[in-house]
Amino acid sequence: MASIRDVAALAGVSTATVARVLRGTAPVSEALARRVKWAVSELDYVPNAVARGLSRGRSNLVGLLVPDISNPFFAEVTRGLEEVAAQHDYHVLVSSSDLHAERESELVRVFESRTVDAVAFTPSATTAPHLRRLRKAGVPLAFVDRRVTDVAAPTVRTDNKAAAHQAVRYLLELGHRRIAMLGGPPAFATAVERLEGFTAAMREAGVRVGKGLVRQGFLGIDGGYQAMASVLDTRPRPTAVFSFNNLLAVGALGALRDRGVRVPEGISLVTFDDMSLFPYVDPPITAIAQPAYEMGVETGRLLFAMLDRPDRTAEDYRDIVLPTDFRIRASCAPPQ
Ligand code: RIB
Repeated sequence: MASIRDVAALAGVSTATVARVLRGTAPVSEALARRVKWAVSELDYVPNAVARGLSRGRSNLVGLLVPDISNPFFAEVTRGLEEVAAQHDYHVLVSSSDLHAERESELVRVFESRTVDAVAFTPSATTAPHLRRLRKAGVPLAFVDRRVTDVAAPTVRTDNKAAAHQAVRYLLELGHRRIAMLGGPPAFATAVERLEGFTAAMREAGVRVGKGLVRQGFLGIDGGYQAMASVLDTRPRPTAVFSFNNLLAVGALGALRDRGVRVPEGISLVTFDDMSLFPYVDPPITAIAQPAYEMGVETGRLLFAMLDRPDRTAEDYRDIVLPTDFRIRASCAPPQ
C-alpha cells in the first residue's frame, strides 16, 4: 500500500505539501495541488488516519456509549456529536450498552483498546465504576442526558424536573385531577427528575396522586404497553397520563387502542420527548421536545474543549443545560 512518502516522491514535493493538499489546511498552488492529486490517484493512496493520529499521540476517535443507538433520541445525539467531530477531523465510535452494566464495562475496555481520545456516555445505572479507569487514564469524559453518582464529569442535559412540571401543570389547568404517570427506571436520573416534576406540580395544585397511578421502572415500547394497561385497570380510571419518554408513549398508544380508549376523549396523553411521527399520528401527540441534536453538538464542543486543555480537571467544567420545547397538540383535552 502506497505511503505518503511514495506520493511525495512521485509528485516531486515534500510530505508536508501532500498533507496540506489532502487536508486543505493551507494554501497550495493549483499546479502543485494537481500534481499531488495525480500522484494520489496513480498510487491509489489512502491516508492512514490512525497512524497519523497516533504519531501525534491521538487516535482522532471519540467514543459514544449510549443505551440504544436505534432510539431516535440517541440517534439525534449521535448526529450532533458527529457534526462537531468532523469539524475536528475526528470520527465517532458509537456503541449500545442495551442497559447492561457488564456490556457497558466491556465497551469501555474497547474504547480504551482503540485509544479513543475522549468519551461521551449515557449510563445504564446510577453508578459506573468501570469509568474510573478512563478517569485515571486522563481520558476526557462527558455525560449526555444523565450522569452517574460515582464519577465526576460535566453533563449535557435538559431540565427534566421543570419540563415535567410544565407538562403536568398543563394537564391540571385543563381540569384533570386523576393523572397517571408511566415512569422510567429509578436508576435513571432523568426518571427521578421527571417524577419529581410530576409530584411537585400535583402537590402545588393540592391534588393527591391516586393509588396505583404512578408506575415506575418501565422501558421501551413493550414497557409502555404494560404500564398503560395496568393503569387502565385502576378504578376510577385516570383521565390523563404523563409518559417518561418517547418509547413508553408509543407502547401506551397501543394499549389504549387495544382497550378501545380514545385519545383525548377517553384519556389525555402527554409525553417527554417528541418524535418525528407524533405530529402525524391520530391524534397528534402533545410532547416535551428535547434538543437531542444540539445536545450532541454541545457534548462534542465540551469534549474538544477538554482535549484542548489537558491541564484542566472535570471540576473546571459545568453542566450544560439546554431548553426544552413544549409542543401542544390534539392528544390533550379537558376531562370528559
Ligand atoms: O428514550 C430516550 C429517553 O430516555 C429520553 O427522554 C432521554 O432523556 C432518555 O432519558
